[in-house]
Amino acid sequence: MYDGDIASVLISEQQIKDKVTELAKQVDEDYHQAGGDLLLVGVLKGAVMFMTDFARALPQPAQLEFMAVSSYGSSTSSSGVVRILKDLDRDIANRHVLIVEDIIDSGLTLSWLLKNLSSRNPASLEVCTLLRKPDAVQVDVPVKYVGFDIPNEFVVGYGLDYAERYRDLPYIGTLDPKVYTTGV
Ligand code: XMP
Ligand code: MG
Repeated sequence: MYDGDIASVLISEQQIKDKVTELAKQVDEDYHQAGGDLLLVGVLKGAVMFMTDFARALPQPAQLEFMAVSSYGSSTSSSGVVRILKDLDRDIANRHVLIVEDIIDSGLTLSWLLKNLSSRNPASLEVCTLLRKPDAVQVDVPVKYVGFDIPNEFVVGYGLDYAERYRDLPYIGTLDPKVYTTGV
């Protein structure tokens, strides 16, 4: 699949599986008190693979909600402008909310999202991200659960895209520079 477009596999399918299981176990322990009232908010489209695998790996029941925001189109750097493309279907007041994210890069999307969701008065609000890039560490956004800290490279696969492609790869990889330059 996508022959020649992927320069290297950064995180394998098995590594993702193991990490999802580990994170789900940790969240399960921390939310024992929530008593089956956990609400997962997945951020479309990037987090969709992580969200569905995570929800199935979680030993306790959880409800699933999705939100779609756009921080930038098909380019590979953040503009800081966040737009809601699809809002939550339900009220999150007094719910234990866990945001499920694919990747935190500059942290701009997340800090905006945290502000927006906390104004809706959830009982608690935390973040679980599969990937985190180095710049995110400098931003003051509290991220309780992090799967992998990765180098500052553009990555695709397992929900992450370049111009809407590669989301369906089961692993996370880096793109061959020829893809950016020729726009295959
Ligand atoms: P910020 O900079 O706001 O960015 O933390 C978060 C969003 O940017 C996208 N993003 C990426 N998407 N490969 C991608 O496919 C990447 O390496 C990458 N880095 C950032 C992503 O949509 C994320 O939600
Ligand atoms: Mg995204």
